[in-house]
Amino acid sequence: MLNPSFGSSAVHTEEGLHAMQFRGRTICITGGSRGIGRALCHEFAQLGAAAIVVAGRSRGDLPDMIGSTLVNFISVDLAEPDGARMLAHVLIAEHPDCSVLVNNAGQQVLGDCVAPDAEEIASAFESEIQLNFTSPVLLGLYLMPLLLRHRHAAICNITSGLALAPKQSSPVYCATKAGLGSYTRALRYQAGSRAANLKIFEALPPLVDTDMTRGRGRGKITPEDCARQIVQGMQRDRPIIDVGKTRLLRAIMRVSPRLGYGIMRNG
Ligand SMILES: NC(=O)c1ccc[n+]([C@@H]2O[C@H](COP(=O)([O-])OP(=O)(O)OC[C@H]3O[C@@H](n4cnc5c(N)ncnc54)[C@H](OP(=O)(O)O)[C@@H]3O)[C@@H](O)[C@H]2O)c1
Repeated sequence: MLNPSFGSSAVHTEEGLHAMQFRGRTICITGGSRGIGRALCHEFAQLGAAAIVVAGRSRGDLPDMIGSTLVNFISVDLAEPDGARMLAHVLIAEHPDCSVLVNNAGQQVLGDCVAPDAEEIASAFESEIQLNFTSPVLLGLYLMPLLLRHRHAAICNITSGLALAPKQSSPVYCATKAGLGSYTRALRYQAGSRAANLKIFEALPPLVDTDMTRGRGRGKITPEDCARQIVQGMQRDRPIIDVGKTRLLRAIMRVSPRLGYGIMRNG
């Protein structure tokens, strides 16, 4: 069954037949309380989203409204094995209008895999894999029946420039992002042939100035700039959204993977 309220959610542009628009939409953003996710809330609100559903462990100081956009919060720990299933259950029951899912929540563990404190690092890696890879995949799966009901729906998975070339200090983080990127591409293939109403995006931010990168790295962009570029990419129907310097990295990887890996190795 198609939801008639989304009949006007696509516009025809030179860049894509069904470029997305967000007016009137209900959008779920995991990890929307801080950083890039929070900036995405503001970006979607500015574009007239009806409601944003933020999912995370804490609401932080997120307001109830941003302009005329309602901001709901669902408390869930997506590093827990049952987190994605529970979140999907609540979304389907309480927010059936939700037609856009942004899998944004993530964490980065810096870890030594050669001389590890195995007990400690193994459990940190398990949480990291669950949050960064398993939960986005499962959330998409559990929400699929809901998304397919809408005339225009989307999943946007936030990966990282580190999906293209890893840095040595966070090997599992980089692997989860590369894995999620690969999964997202294959999901797009499946949706392309069987669910034309569903757009599948991957967004790859460069270094962004958030809690995740506090105290390290140079040349960071703001979360607001990052969010703007992600949303513009979705509006322009770009399935793979390279944000900021990720564009340059991808070009370097095409010409000289060795150079690209070398640049990122100690990043
Ligand atoms: N910052 C960068 O340079 C950068 C670069 C490339 C890609 N990215 C990716 O962009 C996304 C957002 O990163 P960010 O820099 O904005 O991170 P951030 O500032 O650390 O914010 C992380 C968000 O995820 C939520 N979160 C963390 N653990 C969670 C859990 N167990 N369950 C549910 N929610 C959880 C946090 O809320 P609570 O703590 O309240 O749960 C918070 O809202 C991540 O996927 C990250 O990998 C970031």
